[in-house]
Amino acid sequence: MAAATHIGLIRVHHTLPNVAVSCPLSSVPRAVGGHCRLSKLPKRWMNIGGRNKTSRRLILALGASFWAQFTSMAAKRDGKSFVASAKHKGVVEEVLKSVEWPEQFPFKDEDFQRFDESSDSLFYETPRFVTHIDDYAIEALSKYYSEVFPPSNTPGVSMLDMCSSWVSHYPAGYKQERIVGVGMNEEELKRNPVLTEYIVQDLNMNPRLQFDDNSFDVITNVVSVDYLTKPIAVFKEMCRILKPGGLAIMSFSNRCFWTKAISIWTSTGDADHALIVGSYFHYAGGFEPPQAVDISPNAGRTDPMYVVYSRKLSTAQT
Ligand SMILES: C[S@@+](CC[C@H](N)C(=O)[O-])C[C@H]1O[C@@H](n2cnc3c(N)ncnc32)[C@H](O)[C@@H]1O
Repeated sequence: MAAATHIGLIRVHHTLPNVAVSCPLSSVPRAVGGHCRLSKLPKRWMNIGGRNKTSRRLILALGASFWAQFTSMAAKRDGKSFVASAKHKGVVEEVLKSVEWPEQFPFKDEDFQRFDESSDSLFYETPRFVTHIDDYAIEALSKYYSEVFPPSNTPGVSMLDMCSSWVSHYPAGYKQERIVGVGMNEEELKRNPVLTEYIVQDLNMNPRLQFDDNSFDVITNVVSVDYLTKPIAVFKEMCRILKPGGLAIMSFSNRCFWTKAISIWTSTGDADHALIVGSYFHYAGGFEPPQAVDISPNAGRTDPMYVVYSRKLSTAQT
């Protein structure tokens, strides 16, 4: 759990604070990176993509005020908003249990904008042989995988690790005939020992997954769903390529490359993130109602870890 393992990643707040409020002392919204003060930000972050600070604030304000309304409408039980206190273990697990989704996908284009709108290829050009969550979170995720994955070496099983890198956090020694990685950096993917093949693909440029219908048993995505700017297109594709009953596991913590994460993610907290990912499954269609699991190993003391998962319906049209 060396500090070096978190190079470049900024912790996102746990709770949904007054996300629309811009920080009076800086132009960085308060919800983005509690550990990060403007004065300590590398200069290059301030102008990347040519976006000015005012427009960023405006986007956050619009997205967040909408989101506050939606969450208070969508995730209430006993008159209390779950999202208000995501610090308590279990809150993240609750939000998807009682959600009433609006008829239409509730997000706007600006919710998927990033501070850094320059090419993702550029950002991921240099390999990062680091881990993005601490060892406890990794261990919790691997353990979770060991409980839900098909047994190692099951004939005919195919897995896909989306937004993959040099590690997939699969259980030690885990093998299948086919484990594909899709990610941005070839050097990283080449070194990933669990993968049997890989594809370098920018899912924000091209969300079409280059696989046949009904071909995967499991799709994983670790701490990266927040970088998808066309999530519904990607989740529709996930549904198409999953076998009926196939499992999609999206996991996330509270860290991110905040300049590359979508604005609705950087302006909200952990429980909101479960709702956001749940909404992708819901509005993509063809999935069972998504569920959230809090697998955080040491409540509040080390990196939290959450999973939002769903299975492809056997009746889904592909
Ligand atoms: C924080 S890293 C996580 C890597 C890995 N899943 C892990 O757990 O260590 C983010 C990953 O998302 C991938 N990624 C980011 N933007 C992407 C995009 N537009 N298309 C495909 N993959 C992307 C990158 O390749 C990078 O490996």
